[in-house]
Amino acid sequence: MGGGPGGAGGGVNSQSIVWAAIMSAFAAFGGILFGYDTGTIGGIIAMEDWLKNFGSYDSSIGYYLPTNDSSLVVSILSAGTFFGALLAYPMGDIVGRKWGIVSACVVFSLGVGLQLDTKWSTFIVGRVIAGFGVGLVSCLVPMYQSECAPKNIRGLIVGLYQLAITIGALLAAIVLNATKGRLDHSSWRTPIAVQFAWAAILGGGMMLLPESPRYLLLKGRVEEARKSMGRLLTRSPDSPEVIDECNEVSEALQLEQAHGSGSYLDCFRNNEDRNGFRTWTGIMLQGWQQLTGINFIFYYGTTFFKSAGIQNPFIITIIADVVNTAMTIVGIQLIDRVGRRRLLLIGAIGMCVCEFIVAIVGVTAGHIQADNSVNLAAQRVLIAFVCIYIAFFATSWGPVAWVVTGEIFPLSIRAKSMSLSVASNWLWNFGIGYATPYLVNKSTTGINGVKTANLGVKVFFIWGATCVGCFFFTYFFVPETRGLSLEQIDLLYRESSIIKSVSYNRRVRAENLHVASHVEDVAE
Ligand code: GLC
Repeated sequence: MGGGPGGAGGGVNSQSIVWAAIMSAFAAFGGILFGYDTGTIGGIIAMEDWLKNFGSYDSSIGYYLPTNDSSLVVSILSAGTFFGALLAYPMGDIVGRKWGIVSACVVFSLGVGLQLDTKWSTFIVGRVIAGFGVGLVSCLVPMYQSECAPKNIRGLIVGLYQLAITIGALLAAIVLNATKGRLDHSSWRTPIAVQFAWAAILGGGMMLLPESPRYLLLKGRVEEARKSMGRLLTRSPDSPEVIDECNEVSEALQLEQAHGSGSYLDCFRNNEDRNGFRTWTGIMLQGWQQLTGINFIFYYGTTFFKSAGIQNPFIITIIADVVNTAMTIVGIQLIDRVGRRRLLLIGAIGMCVCEFIVAIVGVTAGHIQADNSVNLAAQRVLIAFVCIYIAFFATSWGPVAWVVTGEIFPLSIRAKSMSLSVASNWLWNFGIGYATPYLVNKSTTGINGVKTANLGVKVFFIWGATCVGCFFFTYFFVPETRGLSLEQIDLLYRESSIIKSVSYNRRVRAENLHVASHVEDVAE
């Protein structure tokens, strides 16, 4: 059998694999909730009717959204998400994984409902609440999946989650494009209300699925755990396979409990497992992922393309989303072939080059000319390199950051360090989302008194520079974990010392190969 700790039915039979595939599809809906929401807001704030309702008016420029409001409305979701991610683990332990996800969908729907209102404060509160739901889902879904799916497809599941985020963003772009021409509230209310459907599908689907047997065993509910395991393995609860599998999970749990369940403080202790080093790696990796600047495109892309003089920015956003989705599929396949570390390094270089090209072309030729004409060639180069940049992200930092975060923590602190890392992603997401309009927009001093840096396309110089940081961070701190089991990764961390120099990574790689060849020896 060998589902391993927390993994049900690894290699039991093909039926259980089919079940795992169904659950993966449900994990995907968790990603769609997030991707769709982040994908819609950028377009919604560019809608005529929404601006009339929530924006300000100036006779020279018509309806517009002041910089401070645009910062707030876009980024506030990630603030709610940050708290949702932090609270997900206690919640998953109290009400269980399954009902935790169902409750998160209810919370999310409440937030969506509030965003249909025409009052600014209600709209903002709605985004915080929806964000809270997204944060819960972003931790609970992968947790549920990793506890129920056969371990040999766990990596794929994490990748699918990222894929679903990109599909969510793409769906958002399509819905926005369909409703953008309307001149009434339905232009923005429809794309918002579509989110009820995602919550209903995820929440409704979860109600039909069994609770994680690992969670039930953790709570001493052995009978229920057997029933759940029976459903997962499509066997009767009294069958030897189910009993064996439950025993295996129980043993793993006992071992884990003997190890002790670490506190949040333990996550930062540099003990023999090097918890602190690993937790910081996760936290920083997620931070650097956000610092690639990717969400600038997803949050403010429509406005950015519009200001570059592109006639239908909504279409360009759809193209960017298609590239993101398609290349994520490629990325997921490359993770186990090319390796995490190499993908992160190549991705950082590729994004850096593209971002500098976008910035240089934008500054020298991409802007709208004095006579209101645009340099079409420059515009095309700009769009092409934004798309290549997205392709690099989607094949590297997009999925790989999530995969690495899911596998570098020792069991005793895994849940907590995971939630800290995910929360770090959301915190940076919030910070960058909030700061970007202040960095990019033309100063609106005189209209509403907000001072901005007016960087425009020059902001790509910043993202290009941060990608250099991504490269060096990976080079010095991220070991290659391709092909290693979670236990072998533990060994890797335990046996290599922290030397912040090139030799550290050389050594890690050397040891990694050693561990990997050891794995092959054992397999033979
Ligand atoms: C990753 C990032 C997320 C971003 C998405 C774009 O999941 O964590 O912030 O929006 O990729 O595909």
